[in-house]
Amino acid sequence: MDRPIKKTTKSPITSKTLERVISKAGLGSRTDARRWVHDGRVKVNGRLVQDPDEWIDPIQDRIELDGRRVKTLDKLYVLLYKPAGYITSNGDPDGRPTVYDLIKDVTTFVGTVGRLDEDTSGLLLLTNDTMLAEAMTNPQFHVPKTYLVKCATKLSDGELDQLRSGVELKDGITKPAVVKRVRENESKTFIELTITQGRNRQVRRMIEALESKVLKLVRTKIGPITLDGLESGKWRHLNPGEVTKLYKLTKLDVKLEAQKSVPKQAERPVKFERKPTPTKRAPYSGGADRRTTRRRHT
Ligand code: URA
Repeated sequence: MDRPIKKTTKSPITSKTLERVISKAGLGSRTDARRWVHDGRVKVNGRLVQDPDEWIDPIQDRIELDGRRVKTLDKLYVLLYKPAGYITSNGDPDGRPTVYDLIKDVTTFVGTVGRLDEDTSGLLLLTNDTMLAEAMTNPQFHVPKTYLVKCATKLSDGELDQLRSGVELKDGITKPAVVKRVRENESKTFIELTITQGRNRQVRRMIEALESKVLKLVRTKIGPITLDGLESGKWRHLNPGEVTKLYKLTKLDVKLEAQKSVPKQAERPVKFERKPTPTKRAPYSGGADRRTTRRRHT
């Protein structure tokens, strides 16, 4: 049955109707969920809600059924300020600390969106939204990543231009980068470097191609997401607005809209067509018909 779609002021990406969130949590069907909400058994952020079509945000809102928290199976987006000395891996045979040691209180498994070297600090995203993670790491989408780089030598304007236009690495020339000289002293240069690729150790290798060396590397930004207000070693959830921006950046918002407008096969009423019952017996064909029939059923 088609129900009118209610307007929402919440994020169109993460928000869902209350009915959908409850049924997706695996507690019952959508019909069950609607009944429970109508019956006054559901609260959202402590407020009794009796409209199953109310839009809520399963990441931010707390939903209770009969006073017990409903654990939503929805997407999680974690922004971690990774300190140097942690590896981007889920477990290490050598016992080194991993980024998962820093997000122990995240109870749902989230995978890392790309990686940072052990010696690199800064912004690392983790999510169970595999579609977004794949899009963010797909070179086709050119997601910009910004790094603050402390280089071991003084770099000339010409060398910074080389980084801008592309340097030759053993796996090919790098794509154009945005480079800003932040400051320098008698022997070192600090730059801000924005690249849209994510090759292995790319920033370190770009600086090494200029016969310098990276002394410190911090990722400060991915697309519109920054580390502002977050301390090293701490994490927070992305807010719905940030998730929406990432969907826009990777054009997944357009893809999802396009998918919504295609009617799903399963949603169309299934018609069972009856075969007309033969009124007359077919004339005997010497057994050929029967063989055909048998073959089709195997
Ligand atoms: N480039 C590097 O060289 N290292 C990182 O950790 C990230 C980008």
